[in-house]
This record gives sequence, C-alpha cells and structure tokens, in this order.
Amino acid sequence: MQRILTLASGAGSNFRRLLDEHASRPFNGEFVGLIVDRSGTGAASIAGEEGIPVRELNYNGFQTRAEFERSLLYEMERFQPDLIVGAGFMRILPEAIIQRFENRIMNLHPSLLPAFPGLHPQRQALERGVKVSGCTVHFMDSGVDTGPIILQAAVSIPEGCSEATLIELIRVEEHEALPRAVRLFCENRLKVENGIVRVIGD
Ligand code: GAR
Repeated sequence: MQRILTLASGAGSNFRRLLDEHASRPFNGEFVGLIVDRSGTGAASIAGEEGIPVRELNYNGFQTRAEFERSLLYEMERFQPDLIVGAGFMRILPEAIIQRFENRIMNLHPSLLPAFPGLHPQRQALERGVKVSGCTVHFMDSGVDTGPIILQAAVSIPEGCSEATLIELIRVEEHEALPRAVRLFCENRLKVENGIVRVIGD
C-alpha cells in the first residue's frame, strides 16, 4: 500500500477526482494527508469532509521562502509518503525536497509540456494560436514544469475558444489523467531512466 500525500493550492477538483476514483476503484494506496500553502482552499475543505489530515502552511505567513520550504519538508516527512501528488499546487519545490523524494512527486500541469510552462498556460496557448493543447502529469524536478513526463492528454482548441472554455476543456482531461498516473505509480509501473518515464506493461 502506497502512502499518498497530496499538495494543493486551490479549489481541489483534481483532489476530489482522486478520492472519487479511489472510492469506486481503490488504488493500491491510501490518502494519508493534504498540505496546502494558503488558508481557505477548497482542497482543505474536501480533506476535512473526508477525514484526511490537513496541514495548512500559509506561505504569506513565513518570513522567507527558505523558512516556508523547511516547514514544508518537515511536514511532508511527517506523513512518511511513498507518493506525493501536486494536484493544483502552485509552488516550485527546492532541490532539497526534490532530492529527498526523487521521482516520487507528481505534478499536474494544464498544457502539453514542454510548451507553456509556468503561470496561465491556457492563456499562453490561446495567445500563441496553437490548435491543440492539453495536460501533462510529470515527476517534479526543481525547474518550472520540467521534470520527466508520465502521461499527457490532448484537447483540440475550437475556433474562438475563450480562456475559461479552454480551462474547462483541459480540466475534463486532467480528471482522467491524474488518477491514471496515480494508479500506474501505485502498481509500480513507472520507471524513470535518464529523465524518461517508461510505463511498464503498456
Ligand atoms: C489544475 O488545472 C492544474 O493543472 C493546475 O491548477 C489547477 C488546479 O485545479 N496546476 C498548475 O497550474 C500547476 N502548475 P483544482 O484545484 O480544481 O484541482
């Protein structure tokens, strides 16, 4: 059984999806905790309703980024996770955390990486006029959305698509992709070699 720790910053729709998937078709794992980097997140409310322990580390309440990162590492270690899932977690992690949990921290990003890393990737895609975008689940490294890619799902962008519509179109794919990636990890089917993820048995 993998001990799954989730990190989130927002509404938590992807966290909700993971819990629903686990309820209908259990992962070989358990959701041991949630860490959020601000107060009042939807994700923390969901965890509260589900009886999942929550740690709120309010980033703005720390004197320095280094202090926040030290507390984050401390809290992460306390959960003794096998897998850490960034489900809408909006922070870059420092090398100390990446090394401590190498190839065990997943991130979800709403573009087809390496296109459009960073903030507002859906807006970036529309501004560049691409016809296809999507989402990526990858292992985190200490760069901005640069780590080994686990899986991706594509979305066609209709003519005249608004940012809000593209966010929704991509979200539908995210809600499938993240549970799939978590399941693959829990089944021990992800191998990382030279920065490339191989999916065993696919
Ligand atoms: C998702 O679209 C996820 O891809 C994005 O935050 C959203 C969270 O939604 N993450 C990033 O942009 C990370 N770089 P949710 O809170 O409803 O799951």
